[in-house]
Amino acid sequence: MVQPLDGAAGPDGMLHLEGLVKQYKTGDKALKGVDLEVPRGQVLALIGPSGAGKSTLIRCINRLVEPSSGRMMLGGEDIVRLGAGGLRRARRRMGMIFQEYALVERLTVMENVLSGQLGYVGFWRSYFRRFPPAAVEEAFRLLQRVGLEQFYDKRADELSGGQRQRVGIARALIQDPDLLLVDEPTASLDPKTSRQIMRLICELCAERQLAAIINIHDVALAQMFVQRIVGLRLGEVVYDGTPDGLTPEVLTEIYGEEDWAATRDREADEARAAQVLTEEERLAAM
Ligand SMILES: Nc1ncnc2c1ncn2[C@@H]1O[C@H](COP(=O)(O)OP(=O)(O)O)[C@@H](O)[C@H]1O
Ligand SMILES: [Mg+2]
Repeated sequence: MVQPLDGAAGPDGMLHLEGLVKQYKTGDKALKGVDLEVPRGQVLALIGPSGAGKSTLIRCINRLVEPSSGRMMLGGEDIVRLGAGGLRRARRRMGMIFQEYALVERLTVMENVLSGQLGYVGFWRSYFRRFPPAAVEEAFRLLQRVGLEQFYDKRADELSGGQRQRVGIARALIQDPDLLLVDEPTASLDPKTSRQIMRLICELCAERQLAAIINIHDVALAQMFVQRIVGLRLGEVVYDGTPDGLTPEVLTEIYGEEDWAATRDREADEARAAQVLTEEERLAAM
């Protein structure tokens, strides 16, 4: 019997984390009691230096990593207590996008997107690549949306980094999730492609009223696209607010000593210049 968390199962409460702790077997305490609430449709960027616990946090949410203690509620359901079947169902509500795309190299773009349906169609059917026609249609619609319809039959290993990440995005969306968990989606991409990918993810979240947690170490990129930023340092939330509130003092608290103001201004100028181009390119590609 799942006990509703006080005030947590409100109508807008998509995801609630309360006192989330993760201590690895090695003794590393990666999360030291994280409280976080993400309403339906909200995209938040989780920033922080390497080792802050960003990947651990999103991996706890879909239980790729088992939390040591704390509560996690997804739409009123306690995901810590789910058994195997319940967990499978809960994971279908969460799409995941990775830094290294995690595509199957020798499969086509279309097959990679359809593999996001694995939970629905079952392992053996997908192994023999028999997918329901409705799934193929949906995959094609998604490929159109991410600008890759002409590549549907290409092998994944023939694509550029940006194209690969677009496949990763389409694969995460084909299961029609409520929540996207995104781990450093742009860390392997050049700056211009990074902005295109961040813009695409944020647009899709807005279109589909998706909640999302985007782990990203690039502060300027986070500030450009999301309205809420959470700063993690050594497993603790040290900032939760708007992009404007990330003053040099706050950034120093999150990242330690660095000249953040200079970095941010330079990157913002570059971004404004590049944004015009990428918008044109995007329209041309559609
Ligand atoms: N599988 C693991 N086993 C032991 N320690 C780990 C494991 N994964 C991460 N850690 C440790 O947990 C802390 C947080 O890591 P991580 O969540 O990967 O941070 P981030 O994604 O912010 O770089 C680090 O100290 C890291 O060394
Ligand atoms: Mg990480």
